[in-house]
Amino acid sequence: MSPSHFEDHSADVSPRLVDPNGTEDEQQLEAALRPKKLADFPGQPRVREQLSLVIEAARRRATPPDHILFSGPPGLGKTSLAMIVASELEAPIRITSGPAIQHAGDLAAILSSLNEGEVLFLDEIHRMARPAEEMLYLAMEDFRVDVIVGKGPGATAIPLELPRFTVVGATTRAGLLPAPLRDRFGFTGHLDYYDAADLADILARNADLLGVPATREGITEIAGRSRGTPRIANRLLRRVRDYAQVHGRHVVDLTSARAALELFDVDDDGLDRLDRAVLEALCRRFGGGPVGLSTLAVAVGEEPDTVETVAEPYLVREGYMIRTPRGRAASPRAWTHLGLRPPDGHFTETFQRDTDDGGGRFTG
Ligand SMILES: Nc1ncnc2c1ncn2[C@@H]1O[C@H](COP(=O)(O)OP(=O)(O)OP(=O)(O)O)[C@@H](O)[C@H]1O
Ligand SMILES: [Mg+2]
Repeated sequence: MSPSHFEDHSADVSPRLVDPNGTEDEQQLEAALRPKKLADFPGQPRVREQLSLVIEAARRRATPPDHILFSGPPGLGKTSLAMIVASELEAPIRITSGPAIQHAGDLAAILSSLNEGEVLFLDEIHRMARPAEEMLYLAMEDFRVDVIVGKGPGATAIPLELPRFTVVGATTRAGLLPAPLRDRFGFTGHLDYYDAADLADILARNADLLGVPATREGITEIAGRSRGTPRIANRLLRRVRDYAQVHGRHVVDLTSARAALELFDVDDDGLDRLDRAVLEALCRRFGGGPVGLSTLAVAVGEEPDTVETVAEPYLVREGYMIRTPRGRAASPRAWTHLGLRPPDGHFTETFQRDTDDGGGRFTG
């Protein structure tokens, strides 16, 4: 099959309503909905409590707090928390990101212009260039950078004292951070998926901010389909609002939430067309698997990479699909979700064989 055949297919699943990653168009919309204070940030109770302690202690000592790292999957509020830290400290914030710092010089320029107590937000910190990373360790620990003056053999390093500042880093891939960098953060907050009640609180607040009347049932319906992710919840809310307005209902209630999300192909559990196509193929065409990734991908008319990176993470996380040494298999939840019955003895047979194999021989 030609590559363009695949491209045509992936074009109509993207942009996905349930993509946890934000798009550029969304940035302004998101900024408008970001809570400004910790008290307005529902969910993540542990991280919130720990963070509030770190902030309060720093406030009492009247010194900048330790460096802070937020890690966790996309769309759960890392950037929002970074902004909240600065706002709670009433400190100015400088915003940049790993990919924007490709040379140590880029970082030196930023560091040498920081003011006392300023917050330096480094988004996607795991994507910073190595030499810049090394400069950052030193700056975080000793509040010092070596500025290189001149070029070649005549170049000299002039140490420059920095005022005390706080680095707030955010990463979706904490595992990619080199240990020395990770160690320089005095506090790491790991964000996890939200439960439906917290998502409902977020949605209720945002419906208010958007000036859309909403009922509790409408909000709960959206929360249940949002995959534990506030970014997705906000996106679904905007679509339901559109639907309600166009249909002259003007209220986000159960009826408009159900109708809108059906129209946009987001089902009760937050699965979209691609997710369901993968499960359908697994159960109906391959009897529940296990089946190799590339075979499965051909069956749904997608690139293996799309199936693996777009659909699979959520299906595996939620236990619809299992990765076995011999390929992908449907779990009982997949069959139930599709309203199908697995062949008798299917699970014992599938999983028994994997244990016998010792595993690891066939993948993909
Ligand atoms: N606890 C929360 N309360 C209210 N809104 C939230 C919360 N967490 C996230 N949001 C909203 O979800 C959207 C995405 O959040 P944010 O940009 O902070 O996520 P992120 O973790 O930085 O994502 P990424 O990894 O893609 O950078 C924003 O609109 C934000 O307002
Ligand atoms: Mg972010």
